[in-house]
Amino acid sequence: MKLSQEFVPDDDLNKQLRSAKSQLALYAKDLKALLSRERTKSCKLETTNQQLQAYAAEQHKTRELEKAYADTVIRLTLASRYKDEETGAHIQRLSHYSKILARVIGLDERDAQLIFDAAPMHDVGKVGIPDRIMHKQGPLDEQEWEIVKRHPILGANLLAGSPSLLLQTARDIALTHHERWDGSGYPQGLKGEAIPLGGRMVMLGDTYDALRSVRAYKPAFSHEKACDIILNGNARTQPGHFDPTLLEAFRDRHLEFDGIFSEIREEESTP
Ligand SMILES: [Fe+2]
Ligand SMILES: [Fe+2]
Repeated sequence: MKLSQEFVPDDDLNKQLRSAKSQLALYAKDLKALLSRERTKSCKLETTNQQLQAYAAEQHKTRELEKAYADTVIRLTLASRYKDEETGAHIQRLSHYSKILARVIGLDERDAQLIFDAAPMHDVGKVGIPDRIMHKQGPLDEQEWEIVKRHPILGANLLAGSPSLLLQTARDIALTHHERWDGSGYPQGLKGEAIPLGGRMVMLGDTYDALRSVRAYKPAFSHEKACDIILNGNARTQPGHFDPTLLEAFRDRHLEFDGIFSEIREEESTP
């Protein structure tokens, strides 16, 4: 008697075995496809996660850089104040005037805020003007005046070359806040829309604020007189100096300018 017998399947069993084998082959194929899909998915997920993390880190870095830039520039702005009759309160008011104009002409909140943040740096170039000129009592002679008129270019050079949008906007404002719509301004004599919007806004706010304040060449004027000069002109200032759209915005909202001037005074403006 044989201890073991070779197993010989009968026809039925053979059929079942063949069918089971092909089922298994199909199952294995499905499994392989499934595994490969899952692997791709998890690989994609991993990549997406990595991308999200990299994006968040990049955003964080950008915010930190913006803060560092803003901090540096605030210090420069403070330095320029030591040179100038313009004060911290003036700088704050200018931000607010610019924001009113930005909103009235329909800029979105982000752009309005950008101009609000950049406006205080408009006179930063005055750090480069000699003290004997900046602190001179009495009127400047022609040559001294020509030196003062360099401050937009000095400021633009200080702020130039930065990847920060804030500093790029500040640079445009510093360079163009003495340009006039009719082309009679300085340093480049730019005309109309060739002057960046931020420069046009700061120019209007700066003019209003200077009219309301004491200057070496004039007393402080009332709100009514300042409005009259801006809207109707005098020997020094003409309505044609201003962007007509901004002038209309000022005509509509001049009371808010007065409110800001009365509210933000020097003693409250310690940075
Ligand atoms: Fe200026
Ligand atoms: Fe100013």
